Amino acid sequence: MSEHETTSETLGEPTRRDFLYLTTGMAGAVGAVSVAWPFIDQMRPDASTLALASIEVDVSSLEPGMSLTAKWRGKPVFIRNRTPKEIEEANAVALSDLKDPIARNANLPADAQATDVDRSAGKDKENWIVMIGSCTHLGCVPLGQAGDFGGWFCPCHGSHYDTAGRIRKGPAPMNLAVPTFSFVSDTVIKIG
Ligand code: FES
Repeated sequence: MSEHETTSETLGEPTRRDFLYLTTGMAGAVGAVSVAWPFIDQMRPDASTLALASIEVDVSSLEPGMSLTAKWRGKPVFIRNRTPKEIEEANAVALSDLKDPIARNANLPADAQATDVDRSAGKDKENWIVMIGSCTHLGCVPLGQAGDFGGWFCPCHGSHYDTAGRIRKGPAPMNLAVPTFSFVSDTVIKIG
């Protein structure tokens, strides 16, 4: 080993050999990017896929206490017809007890509060809740009617959501997101 290399390594500076590795590594990365582009381009949604930007879900079979999971834009969407007890429990919680007091409801202003009504389909349809089934911690799919608050429970790192899908305990920072949706009839929900 030459005196120069010894000095460089002692000072923690890259040696010439390290520099060559670095340069080769960078060339490799650039190569990978240019190869990846055509694939990404092919994966762009065409018109027929964009039409699926919204879906309609028939919820006529959901009695109170029943849920279904729809798939929308590659994500699970939980739709639940909540029982009067679940609604009551959610309404009994003071907003000051919530970890995330924001509704996170795409149908409402960004600062709407996380009351049960504003987490649900609204005053006349408060029994219905529609949420993206993706834990706001790292995106696992929570389990329904589980956890300390009888709502949803994410087993990945232990996040507990209440019956209004609001985060109550665990590492998740936000309530489960409510996507844009509307009832197009009494029994059909349009998502997106
Ligand atoms: S992803 Fe749900 S708790 Fe971590």
